[in-house]
Amino acid sequence: MLRYFFVGFSLLILLVVSITGLRGWKSKRPPIELFPDMVRQAKYKPQTESEFYADNRSARQPVEGTVPLGYASVSTSSSNGTMGDLGPYQNIQFTASSDYVATGRFGNQWGTGIPFEVTAAMMQRGRERYNITCAVCHGATGAGNGIASKYGLNGIANQQQQRIRDMADGEIFNTITWGKNTMMGYGSTIQVPDRWMIIAYLRALQRSQRTTWSDLPTEEQKNASSWK
Ligand code: HEC
Repeated sequence: MLRYFFVGFSLLILLVVSITGLRGWKSKRPPIELFPDMVRQAKYKPQTESEFYADNRSARQPVEGTVPLGYASVSTSSSNGTMGDLGPYQNIQFTASSDYVATGRFGNQWGTGIPFEVTAAMMQRGRERYNITCAVCHGATGAGNGIASKYGLNGIANQQQQRIRDMADGEIFNTITWGKNTMMGYGSTIQVPDRWMIIAYLRALQRSQRTTWSDLPTEEQKNASSWK
């Protein structure tokens, strides 16, 4: 009995020493990997040669006509023809400067007003961008009843409420850029001029839902007075 104990005990000591006693030793041999995870994988390091491609370069050239995100001029990427002049803002795209155009603020204050003259084509573009990005949640008229609200997204703001009618354009710009509470930001996907065009369109949406007599041009008021 005791013999078995001694044999077992020696084996145990041998095991412990062979595991712990060799710590700190260096070896050139690869370690035993029980779980190699993804330590070794077939890949090319940057700027290396490759036998596989005819030009012997491991890196591929971008497909012809590729436009890096943020480098397409707003005026050329529209489906609504010429946009009109954005003046000095023509090429800002995703620029994150500290001025009103890129932040919606003057110092610590929200500013209001679209920083360029809004043309009909810009309105069209605003509508297009709004319908692509915002309408899924806020709905086509901004009432907060977009398709996402039918699939469990709660608390979507109604753009028609007085609080948002009264809100400074700059604050809405900031919400588009950075998001607000449960709404994520769209600053990385919507270019700066497009954000302003969306706001211009949003203002039109708000007016469309609460038009007053005085909103009609005088000519229209005269025409309409017959059925008033
Ligand atoms: C995925 C859904 C979703 C999308 C897309 C979305 N929003 Fe929102 N938005 C929300 C939700 C939810 C809220 C309410 C957030 C909160 O709790 O205050 C909100 C709030 C707002 C508000 C009110 C913010 C405030 O200060 O109370 C504005 C303005 C707004 N969104 C504009 C936009 C515009 C413009 C777009 C398109 C560029 C857009 N949203 C896209 C979900 C969305």
